[in-house]
Amino acid sequence: MKTNVAIIGAGPSGLLLGQLLNNKGIENVILERQSPDYVLGRIRAGVLEQGMVALMREAGVADRMDREGLVHDGFEIAFGEHRRRIDLKDLTGGSSVTVYGQTEITRDLMEARALSEAVSLYEVDNVYPHDIESDSPYVTFEKDGETLQLACDYIAGCDGFHGVSRRSIPRHILNEFERVYPFGWLGVLSDTPPIADELIYANHDHGFALCSMRSRTRSRYYIQVPSYENVEDWSDDRFWNELRARLPEDVRNNLVTGSSIEKSIAPLRSFVAEPMQHGRLFLVGDAAHIVPPTGAKGLNLAASDVATLYELMVRIYEEGRSDLINRYSATCLKRVWGAERFSWWMTNLLHRFSDNRFDLRVQQADLEYYTTSHSAQKTIAENYVGLPYDRLE
Ligand code: APR
Ligand code: PHB
Repeated sequence: MKTNVAIIGAGPSGLLLGQLLNNKGIENVILERQSPDYVLGRIRAGVLEQGMVALMREAGVADRMDREGLVHDGFEIAFGEHRRRIDLKDLTGGSSVTVYGQTEITRDLMEARALSEAVSLYEVDNVYPHDIESDSPYVTFEKDGETLQLACDYIAGCDGFHGVSRRSIPRHILNEFERVYPFGWLGVLSDTPPIADELIYANHDHGFALCSMRSRTRSRYYIQVPSYENVEDWSDDRFWNELRARLPEDVRNNLVTGSSIEKSIAPLRSFVAEPMQHGRLFLVGDAAHIVPPTGAKGLNLAASDVATLYELMVRIYEEGRSDLINRYSATCLKRVWGAERFSWWMTNLLHRFSDNRFDLRVQQADLEYYTTSHSAQKTIAENYVGLPYDRLE
C-alpha cells in the first residue's frame, strides 16, 4: 500500500486532518487500533473555540454542529454564595464558544470519511512507524493476522497519549514536561435539562464542581475527587448530593437529577513533549500534550495542531515548500504552552489543593480579583475563547 500521509489514530485529530487533506486531494490512510464503536463510546469534553468551529467548516463537516451546537457568550465562576459571570463576548470584542460534544464531532467526521474514497483501517494491531528520518518512511501494522506495510511521504501521529508515535522519537531527542494533580474529575452524563443556560465552574470547600451540558436536554456534571476514589463507590444519589452541596444555594435549587447514562473518573495531568516532530513524523493532539480539562482546551489544542499540519501539507504539495517542515513543532508549541499555562492556572484557581490556611486565603483573593477586575476578566476571556492560531511563517 502507498499513500501521501499515513495517519495513525482515528480520534478527532486524525479524522479532522484526514478530512481536510481529502478536500485538497492529498491522499491519506487512517490506521486505528480500536473499532469505530469503541472510538465513539469515549465521552470527552465539548466546548469548541471559534478556531475549531472554523476548521470544521473548512473541512465541510459543520452542518450538524452549526444546527445543534449551542453558542455560549459567557460562563460563570461560583465561589461561596457568589456567582460571577465572565462575559466572553463583551470582554473579547465579539468572540464566543460553541458547546457541541466531542463524540458528535467524531461521529460527523466518521460519516464524512465513510462517504469519501479515503481508506480507514480499524482494529489494526502493532502499528509501527519506520525510517522516519529518511525520505521514504513507512508504517507496518497487522490486520486480521496479516502483516502489512504502508509506504508514505509523511506520518501524522494522531494516536493520543498512549500511542506509539511519541515513543518512536529517539529518547535522547524527546524532552517531556509533566505535572500530575492529586485528584481527578468524577463525571456524570444524564438526560436531564442543564441547571443553567451557561456553564458554571464552582470552587467550594469540598472541592471543585462543574455544571456543563451537551444539549438542552442532556447535562454533563463533574466534581473533584481524590485520585484514590473508585467510581463504584459513587452511586448516582451520592454524586447528586455532593454536587448539590458544592453549588451556591440559588443554583442548587434548579438542579434536576436523574439516572446517569455514563459515570467515570478521569485523572488530571499537564504534559508536553518537545519537539513535536522528528524527521517525517509529526505529533498531533494528545500524542504530544495533555491539559487538565479545567480550561476545556484538550480538543481545541488538537485542532490547532491539525490546522498547522494541514497548512504545512498544503504548502508542500501545492507549492513545493518542504523548507517549512522544520517550522511545525515551534509553531504548535507556542500555542500549546499558552493553553498549558491557562489550563494549569484555571485548575489552581478552582480546585482544592490543600488545607493550608494561607493558600486558601490567596485563592479566595485570586477569585475575587479575577471575577471583578475588568482587565483580569479580560485575561480569562481571551484565553477561554482561544488564543489566535499562528501561521507557519
Ligand atoms: N495504533 C493505532 N491507533 C492508536 C494507537 C496505535 N498504537 N494508539 C492509540 N490509537 C488511537 C486510539 O484508539 C484513539 O482512537 O488513536 C486515537 C487517539 O485519539 P484521542 O486520544 O482522542 O486523541 P486526539 O485525536 O489527539 O484527540 C484530542 O482532545 O479533548 C481532548 O483528550 C481529548 O481525545 C481528545 C483530544
Ligand atoms: C464538558 O462539558 O465535558 C466540559 C466543559 C468544560 C470543561 C471541561 C469539560 O472545562
